[in-house]
Amino acid sequence: MVTGVGKATGLGFAVAQTLAARGDRVWIAARTAAQAEAMAAAIGADVVPLALDLADSAAIRRAAEEVQARDGRLDVLINNAAAVAPWGETAAGADLGLARGVMEVTLFGTWAMCAAFLPLLRLSPAGRLVNVSSGAGSHGDTGFGLTTGNGMGTSYAVAKAALNALTAKLAREETSGVKINAVCPGFTATFEGGAQMGARPVAEGAASILWAADLDANGPTGGFFRDGKPLPW
Ligand SMILES: NC(=O)c1ccc[n+]([C@@H]2O[C@H](COP(=O)([O-])OP(=O)(O)OC[C@H]3O[C@@H](n4cnc5c(N)ncnc54)[C@H](OP(=O)(O)O)[C@@H]3O)[C@@H](O)[C@H]2O)c1
Repeated sequence: MVTGVGKATGLGFAVAQTLAARGDRVWIAARTAAQAEAMAAAIGADVVPLALDLADSAAIRRAAEEVQARDGRLDVLINNAAAVAPWGETAAGADLGLARGVMEVTLFGTWAMCAAFLPLLRLSPAGRLVNVSSGAGSHGDTGFGLTTGNGMGTSYAVAKAALNALTAKLAREETSGVKINAVCPGFTATFEGGAQMGARPVAEGAASILWAADLDANGPTGGFFRDGKPLPW
């Protein structure tokens, strides 16, 4: 299951496409049915589209019931969806209504996904939960981090830092063997003009995410990684 597969230029689409090409059944979630169906048609193969607004916790619970009814379990959950902070948002000057909206999707929506789907991941022989985070939520990332970066809005960075904290707490209490990690895809060209700004190709960012989905039984849990290497919290 990959969330945030709303456009063909995004990381979620690239991740879902790679998984589908391997022959896996992939559930793709997008904000609207039209987006999910268009993306499923573009990928082809065994892709099941789901309309899922992450701000709607009842829809998240229904989605888990749908997966349970059809497949009986889930092997990999990739929480890729995230809300974008309002342009130019600062810490002291933020519109807290808009900032709450970012937290609602990126933190609480992802949290609800974890809670709803962990019971299904526990039924897999090798359940993997991947929270797509960002160096923007890291205290130690020297390029984009909380103490160094100036590129990302505050609510985005705070939501990603909280998502990292949630990942650590979930992994700490999980005794089932499901591996739970946060990953950063790196600065990736998923937006207009990204490549010109030095962002890397989408395939590279997608590989950074898929690394945590593909961990074997000896792989880590409860960490934060980019390209398979630990990233400071
Ligand atoms: N690109 C980078 O440089 C970079 C760097 C670090 C981390 N990341 C992370 O990588 C992930 C993918 O980002 P991306 O660059 O591929 O951007 P993206 O294409 O905008 O992906 C984000 C997806 O989340 C969806 N989303 C937003 N609000 C939602 C909601 N309420 N319900 C359901 N879906 C919702 C968006 O839907 P719509 O299409 O409908 O807007 C979009 O499809 C995100 O978690 C992002 O924070 C990206």
